[in-house]
Amino acid sequence: MLDNKKILLIVSGGIAAYKCPDLVRRLRQRAARVRCVLTNGGAEFVTPLALGAVSEDKVYQDLFSLTDEDEMGHIRLSREADLVLVAPATANILAKMAHGIADDLASTALMASDKPILCAPAMNVRMWENPATLENLATLAKRGVGFIGPEEGDMACGEWGLGRMSEPDQIADAVEEFFRQELPLNGIRSLVTSGPTLEAIDPVRYLANRSSGKQGHAIATALSRLGAATTLVSGPSHQPDPVGVKMVKVETAVQMLDACESTLPVDVAILAAAVSDWRVETAEISKIKKGSDKKPPALTLVENPDILATLSAVGNARPRLVIGFAAETDDVIANATQKRAKKGCDWIVANDVKPETGTFGGDANTVHLITEDGVEDWPTQSKAAVAERLAERVVETLTATQ
Ligand code: CTP
Repeated sequence: MLDNKKILLIVSGGIAAYKCPDLVRRLRQRAARVRCVLTNGGAEFVTPLALGAVSEDKVYQDLFSLTDEDEMGHIRLSREADLVLVAPATANILAKMAHGIADDLASTALMASDKPILCAPAMNVRMWENPATLENLATLAKRGVGFIGPEEGDMACGEWGLGRMSEPDQIADAVEEFFRQELPLNGIRSLVTSGPTLEAIDPVRYLANRSSGKQGHAIATALSRLGAATTLVSGPSHQPDPVGVKMVKVETAVQMLDACESTLPVDVAILAAAVSDWRVETAEISKIKKGSDKKPPALTLVENPDILATLSAVGNARPRLVIGFAAETDDVIANATQKRAKKGCDWIVANDVKPETGTFGGDANTVHLITEDGVEDWPTQSKAAVAERLAERVVETLTATQ
């Protein structure tokens, strides 16, 4: 997600400009803020009204407009953005950029910019292959300008070849990838478990617990927002799937362990699921009926695999950082400290789940982080805030040990 990133979209004069309202829409769907600059050529293919409507912002066109300069100014226009995107980037605007020509608002804003620039070229195949264009591209690439496409295909001029502007979704993907590369957990793989597990008694009944999945889902969201490629293995939960996270939905502890093991190797594993400690030895295939003697059936339980202990001891494939949770109702710190040692994980996030705390199912959590350095008491805060703080600690630790 582009998360309020400010994008200055420069629309220059190629037929592909007709795709720009769609591009603006797709960038905004990913939560970016988009402001458009339209060249005179661009305005032959797409109207300022269309771009203004989809961007919900003023469209800037004229370098010498007193009002525009007063409100914004070409310097601030480019400096206020997090990224300048030129789409379509015609041979002409690329040439101006390469040679430092500033003769309209778009080219002046580009020259005045101290922000990263991405271009999505669009032109006829002969223009793309022209040595002048190739030299301009090489010059711009050397200066750090990034390129998205162009693609090969049919062109508006009837020819076929390289020069079509990439599709709006591809451009939005590339923009997202650009920002992802700047994130502190870019290149890091993370695994999170969340929710309860359900252990079948028969086709209609099961053993479960009160976990809502709120904390685990929030952790997956926080890691992903910091750039980690995140897999969330979750038992049944009503929480929405976090955006940008690979979801693996399971029911039982055994399925959860399988899913976790097939996600390895990862750099960090945070196991927040409330895994059922036991399962019914043999779940009945048919619904258990009340017997004529009215006696309730006896359930034989067997222990489930311990996912946290297993992942903490997988030898070479062990994540660099394994973090467990400890749901406790009594002697929270002492029990959690013991759990850390017993399971062999690096950190334990201990939380008090006595009913009066409202932790299970609630939005807030009071946790204590137990590491090899001791115990940190965190204030009561939302589960999202706990997740963000934990993710920041992961960044500090993984970047310190890289
Ligand atoms: N856990 C696990 N697999 C299990 C049981 C627990 O991976 N079969 C993980 C949980 O995801 C959590 C940690 O172990 O990260 C501690 O879970 P918790 O329920 O607090 O502890 P238990 O190991 O179940 O011990 P107890 O129920 O005796 O407190």
